[in-house]
Formats: sequence, C-alpha cells, structure tokens
Amino acid sequence: MTTPGRKLDHIRICLEEEVESAWRPFNDLMLVPRALPGIDASEVNTRCRFLGKELAAPLMICGMTGGHPDTKEINRNLARAAQEVGVALGVGSQRAALEDPMMEETFSVVRDAAPGVPVVGNIGAVQLRKEGPEILDRLAEMIDADALAIHLNFLQERVQPEGECWGGGLIEAIGSATRGKVPIIVKETGAGICREDAVALVDAGVRIIDVGGLGGTSWAAVEARRAEEKGDQESFRLGRTFRNWGLPTPASVVECVAAGAEVISSGGVRSGADVAKSLALGATIAGSALPLLAPATKSAEEVAEVLRRYIRELRTSMFLTACVDLAELGSAPIVVGGRVREILDQRGFETKKFAIIRDISR
Ligand SMILES: Cc1cc2nc3c(=O)[nH]c(=O)nc-3n(C[C@H](O)[C@H](O)[C@H](O)COP(=O)(O)O)c2cc1C
Repeated sequence: MTTPGRKLDHIRICLEEEVESAWRPFNDLMLVPRALPGIDASEVNTRCRFLGKELAAPLMICGMTGGHPDTKEINRNLARAAQEVGVALGVGSQRAALEDPMMEETFSVVRDAAPGVPVVGNIGAVQLRKEGPEILDRLAEMIDADALAIHLNFLQERVQPEGECWGGGLIEAIGSATRGKVPIIVKETGAGICREDAVALVDAGVRIIDVGGLGGTSWAAVEARRAEEKGDQESFRLGRTFRNWGLPTPASVVECVAAGAEVISSGGVRSGADVAKSLALGATIAGSALPLLAPATKSAEEVAEVLRRYIRELRTSMFLTACVDLAELGSAPIVVGGRVREILDQRGFETKKFAIIRDISR
C-alpha cells in the first residue's frame, strides 16, 4: 500500500475505533492539594519559552498528519488553533512529501497558518538512516521548522505487514542528524523511551526527547484493526497481543529526565491536570494528539476549544497546588502510586522523593 493510502487508513481508524491503551497511567499520580494556596487564581502564569518562541502554556499538538490531499484541511485547522491559542505543533511524517513533492503543501500549510509558534517536522528514524542526513534540510525548509522530530515506532512497524523493522545503525544516523542546522527531537509514538535508550540518545547529541509513552493511542491497536479489515489474521493477533505494550508515559518522563534530556511528555495526556503532573515529574512541556484529531476534521475553533480546556485545567491544577508559575510546578510535590510506582521502584528510581516536601528532598 502507498504511504498516502496508509495515512488515510490511520486517520479513519483513529476517528472511528477504540484505539487507546486500556490503562490510564496518569491516574496513578496525585499532585498534593493545598487548602491554603496563598495566591489568587488570577496570578497563575503558564507562559513559557520552547524552541526559542513564547507559548501561552507548555503544550504541544503532537505530529499526526499531512501526506494526502485530504489531510491538508486537518493540518490547517490544527495550525490555526495552535497560532490562536499559542501552543507548539508538529506535523506527521513528511515521508510522503519526499516520495511525491505534490504532497508538500499538505505540510507547508501549517507554517502559513501558524507563523508565530514553534513548528516541528517529522521523519522516521528508519527513513533517515536509509536516505541520509541530507534530507533533513529539505524537510525543515518545507515548513520552516523550528525543530525536526525523528520518530521511533517499531511496535507499529512490527505489527504492520509492510512494516520496516531495521533497528540497526539508528543511533549513528540520529547522531549525524544532531550535527545539522535544525534542532533534533527524538520521539516515540506510544511505547515510551527508557533510560538506557535516552542515555544513548543524549550521548549521541540529542537534547530533546518526546517520550510518546503508553497510555494513549496504541499503534498496535490501530494496526490490529487495519489487519482485521484486510483479513490478515496473523497481524491482527499480533496487534491485539501487544495493544498495551510499552513504558507508561509518566515513568518514561522520569527515566528520560534522569538521562539528562529536556522532555516532552506525551502519550495519553488527556487534560491540563495530566500536563501539570507531567511538569511536576520534570517534563518541560506536554503534548497531545488523538483528542485533537476529531475536532480538527471540523474547524480550527473546535481544536482551540480543546486547547483552552487543557490550559484552564492546568491553571486550576497550579492554583490548587499553590504554584504561581511553571518553575514552582516543576518542584510541586506529587505522589506516585499504583503500577507507575511499581515500575519506577523496580527500575531503581526513588519515587518518594517526588512526594515529600521538595525543600527536604533536595
Ligand atoms: C492519526 C495519528 C497519526 C499519527 N502520525 C504520526 C506520525 O506520522 N509521526 C509521528 O511521529 N507520530 C505520529 N502519531 C503519534 C503521535 O504524535 C503521538 O506520539 C501518539 O499518538 C501519542 O499521543 P496521544 O495518546 O495523545 O494520541 C500519530 C498519532 C495519531 C493519532
């Protein structure tokens, strides 16, 4: 199947089917509520800088689409909303535009509609290794990118009958990409990034990691559905088995921060409260994809409404935890429970240090 055809399948399935992981790891976390906030709600300031530009809140629309004529309007709506509200945004894999330059405008529409916010390009790590770092300038120029995201998606590729599962040589390819003109972000797409891999990425020169952890869109579930539609029983079973595979997003945030990366928390971020929890664990900003897809098929205003809800919930979380700005939120006490705590404890992280009064723990 061609790249544009596959992209449309993905969007249709994400819009029509239940494709999220069964587990909501952010529910294992609790910010410590303050009955006496000591500040007024109106004083809360969520502004920050990301990739050299100012944002109204530490929020990003994660890369989803482009690459088929029908996706241009979706990207335009996402971009208009990002510009209006003041958040960062990514595009989906630009591979389709490398294969067919006619597809470029389905991506470049984003920069036209969002001239003032950070825009992040996107290409698969396997594609990068195949084509070489020369493609990066072209991808960046296409959308006047502030950064390029190199995505890792081996769970998805493994379940896809046409998937490309060449995992060798990627660190070298990513390392050479970091020596180019545009900042590089490495992102997963729903299975998370552990400390071992984050250390290797940081050593290779990557500064920013988007964890893309477990807890939201499951690409094993999406590909299982595609396989079912095509009557491919083997891939269907494989996708079903691995639907909940991955490192949960909050755990992946802790692991990547420990490796010294600047971290984007994504994968199952479904509210501003999840954004607040992410920042309390050390993330710089948080990103969301699936909840913005259906609104983007309708209008920019519907996308903006979802973004404004996230910001309202973030501001509320900050007020109720006595955090006047994002620096304070970064050290707000947060209790890690349930399976997220089990995972982090077993992995050797001291989860209690997040929960006790930070003045004592530092
Ligand atoms: C319809 C759709 C298409 C996506 N396409 C891409 C892509 O081309 N490249 C990429 O890096 N991630 C892609 N993603 C993954 C998202 O960027 C994100 O990592 C993932 O969906 C987890 O976030 P969520 O749980 O908020 O959806 C896509 C997600 C969706 C929902």
